Amino acid sequence: MSKPIYVLNGPNLNLLGVREPHLYGSVTLEQIRGLCEARANAGGREIVFRQSNREGELIDWVQEAREKASAVVINPAGYGHTSIALLDALKAVDVPVVECHLSNISQREPFRHHSYVSLAAQGVIQGLGPLSYELAIDAALRLTGADRVA
Ligand code: DQA
Repeated sequence: MSKPIYVLNGPNLNLLGVREPHLYGSVTLEQIRGLCEARANAGGREIVFRQSNREGELIDWVQEAREKASAVVINPAGYGHTSIALLDALKAVDVPVVECHLSNISQREPFRHHSYVSLAAQGVIQGLGPLSYELAIDAALRLTGADRVA
């Protein structure tokens, strides 16, 4: 049995569905979990799906993923723009890392244009709403040699 794909979500993503819906849409994080699960299962993989508002907890999970994950999909949310510590943790991960964002951060405020996490990610998918997550799962499957991709 292959190791699961870790899907990690940063601060405020627990509020998806009610938080700035003009930017992030009306789909909840729980619904995104379902989309990720379906996509991963179709490729023969499980997911571990988590969200935290705390930088240290996200770093602990990235460290856990070093041993337990086949790949990491991460929406670092605001920490992507600020956290060198999260970058350092991701750099210590040997499995593929795919960064995703619901919104297109390149089209938003200048302070969102830079992501530390991108320096450790194999690829970035952004701007497609929940589809960003689904495509990130597909990418993780392909990068880890899953025989079927939805
Ligand atoms: C986000 C974009 C970030 O700039 C922002 O801080 C978020 C969400 C996205 O998914 O579009 O919290 O990561």
